[in-house]
Amino acid sequence: MDLSDPDTYIHGLPHHEFRRLRAEDPVSWQSEPGGRGFWAITRHADVMTVLRDPRRYSSWRGGALLADPPAEFLEKLREGMLNRDPPDHTMLRRLVNKAFNPRRVAELEVRVARRAAELVTAVRDRGACDFAVDVAGEMPLFVICEILGVPLEDRARLFALTERMLGTNVTDRAASLRDGMAAADEMRTYGAHLGAHKRAHPADDLVSDLLAAEFDGRRLTDGEFQAFFMLLFNAGSDTTRSLLCFGLDLLIDRPDAYRRLQAEPSLIPNAVEEMLRFDPPVIQFRRTATEAAELGGRTIAEGDKVVVFFPSANRDEQVFADPDRFDIDRPPGDHLAFGYGTHYCVGAPLARMEAKYVLRELVSSVGQVERTSALVASRSNFIRGARHLQIRYRRA
Ligand code: HEM
Repeated sequence: MDLSDPDTYIHGLPHHEFRRLRAEDPVSWQSEPGGRGFWAITRHADVMTVLRDPRRYSSWRGGALLADPPAEFLEKLREGMLNRDPPDHTMLRRLVNKAFNPRRVAELEVRVARRAAELVTAVRDRGACDFAVDVAGEMPLFVICEILGVPLEDRARLFALTERMLGTNVTDRAASLRDGMAAADEMRTYGAHLGAHKRAHPADDLVSDLLAAEFDGRRLTDGEFQAFFMLLFNAGSDTTRSLLCFGLDLLIDRPDAYRRLQAEPSLIPNAVEEMLRFDPPVIQFRRTATEAAELGGRTIAEGDKVVVFFPSANRDEQVFADPDRFDIDRPPGDHLAFGYGTHYCVGAPLARMEAKYVLRELVSSVGQVERTSALVASRSNFIRGARHLQIRYRRA
């Protein structure tokens, strides 16, 4: 099985192959058509070992994306914190944490709750909707537009760029990389205009805070701001939409679990953790070895690509009992859906909050949901995007 091929994931995650790799070849060498090959890390403990050691497994050296980017594109990627290592990652991250302060998050919570109610109410009496487009996709776009100060009417245009960067219908790998890079340039240009406007007219919002904040005696460069804008838009939109869609897809097949959540909405946060464990939106992230290393009995050479697979780590039988069972009562354990260590997801509290409010509105507004056609996923080896989920239901 080619773990770098987007088609491998289109009809679901290859759990059978991950199970075999965890048992027989947990640090396995994978060939990569058109690329130089990589190590696939499939056990929970080894994934943590890689992610906790940025000195040895670098995000900067080759970037965090599986395919090797052309040198000039790598330079641009490195303006964003995802593609940096400590200590300069630490400084950017502190800056962002400062801007995501508790006051801003609390303010956002009120608006997230209100928006979730509006979105679900809008589809409640229709009896049917495309949950991916009408509800799950709208929630994260609203939140990102709010925190970045982007006009809501631009969300579709920006999300179309995200789709081209994260998944692709272009089957030729070189052409799809070029298309993704062109979309990234457009996204950065949008960010550049936004940054220039906010620098000239600072307001009480996250972007103005970010642009004004100083770290290590300097402010964010224009390039760093554009990279941050792009990262937030990409990281926040498709992932949260996936969490909601793949999560609801699980509940559709488990009416008992849906009824439990209706009767006991306080279980929803736990159910969200189980959704993240069972069907994580992010498939993999990449690091590059900066020196020779031993891992899982294999010798990794300096410069090798090392790719961690979250869906496999989250079903590791050494960590989770009966891992292939979806159980909303499972005590939240150490799933790795948001990563681990240095680059642990900045948006995790936001994603959890969005999912909680949307699911709470849904289960209180409509009875058992049925699928009218199978969930349509994007073609990606990176983030499993949910493009359509057609459902029908009755008002509760
Ligand atoms: C269910 C939804 C989400 C999932 C599954 C997810 C997953 C992840 C993962 C696995 C990483 C680690 C990357 C690495 O190790 O290289 C990450 C990083 C990141 N995420 Fe998320 N994410 C989600 C939602 C969000 C949201 C809503 C935002 C912001 C609005 C966000 C912003 C970021 C940023 C900025 C980073 C980079 C952090 C760093 O480099 O230090 N994410 N995310």
